[in-house]
Amino acid sequence: MKILVVGGAGYIGSHMIKRFQDTDYEIDILDNLSTGFELNAQNYKLHICDLSDKDHVHQILKENKYEAVMHFASYINVGESYSNPNKYYENNVTNTLNLLDSMVDLKILNFIFSSSAAVYGEPQSIPITEDQMLSPVSPYGNTKAIVEKILKDYDKAHALKYVSLRYFNACGAHTDGSIGERHNPETHLIPLILQVASGRREIFSIYGEDYDTKDGTCIRDYVHVMDLAEAHLLSLEDLIQNQKSDIYNIGNNLGFSVKEIINIAETITHQKIPYEILARRKGDPTQLIADNTKIIEKLNWSANYSDLNTIIMTAWEWEKRLSKSN
Ligand code: UFG
Repeated sequence: MKILVVGGAGYIGSHMIKRFQDTDYEIDILDNLSTGFELNAQNYKLHICDLSDKDHVHQILKENKYEAVMHFASYINVGESYSNPNKYYENNVTNTLNLLDSMVDLKILNFIFSSSAAVYGEPQSIPITEDQMLSPVSPYGNTKAIVEKILKDYDKAHALKYVSLRYFNACGAHTDGSIGERHNPETHLIPLILQVASGRREIFSIYGEDYDTKDGTCIRDYVHVMDLAEAHLLSLEDLIQNQKSDIYNIGNNLGFSVKEIINIAETITHQKIPYEILARRKGDPTQLIADNTKIIEKLNWSANYSDLNTIIMTAWEWEKRLSKSN
């Protein structure tokens, strides 16, 4: 079966591609390489294409007879989505519509979508179940919630079958050391802490110490990128077999504060990580922890890398490699 992985040259997409290596699926990648790396797509057919180019997207889909599409290509910087919302609505919503319209036109009706815990905004209760009301606060979160609504409508109108996967905090690197997280600029907690440990950054900034949590810093549910990839594969198989749209959280049902992450990182790296306390960052909910019962029960998903030590160890191996090459 032929699958198109949109955004396959990026962080999560590249781990997905690697996961596909042990399967019978035939994989192509579509990426505009704006944030992804061509190196991640080597050995695959790479269509360099921007989703805003409707005709090109349509042509690629038409020529290749895909049976399903996975869509990882979105902008993910919450802070930037406040200062430049147009960039987020245009790419994450309008360009996704271009992709969906070509799919519907060509009767490619299986779609796996990278959604986010950002659709919940400040949650009503913890852990968060999939049926909690969506109340995103950032433009980024809005874009993900809008696409989820579009998918529901496209299912009704065109029988497009989809799985939306609401990622909690994606992190870690492949255990074989070959790929990992590499954003520019980097805004995510674990890579930034590890950049301090490796000497690429002098100090880490904690955004807010006055949250209503055990140590005043925000709590998140960190999920390893290889466990995310596994969830995508299970979702794809279930979708193809059962032809039923659905939505799942992907997280570990475990919460760690920013300060706890710093402590674990200090133990693993054997480095002191100096930090300063800054004001809260806009759009940061106090606490996000997934209720992952649904994906465990319905898709038989289980995390192989939920131990935070393992997560940070894989990210540290990757950071050491990056810091050497810089
Ligand atoms: N943090 C800091 N200092 C930093 C960076 C992060 O204190 O320099 C804190 C944040 O305030 C937050 C936690 O570390 O409490 C995690 O921050 P990340 O930026 O690593 O991740 P987010 O929780 O902001 O974002 C992640 C995904 C988004 C998604 C969001 C859902 O990266 O794509 O979860 O809320 F939208």
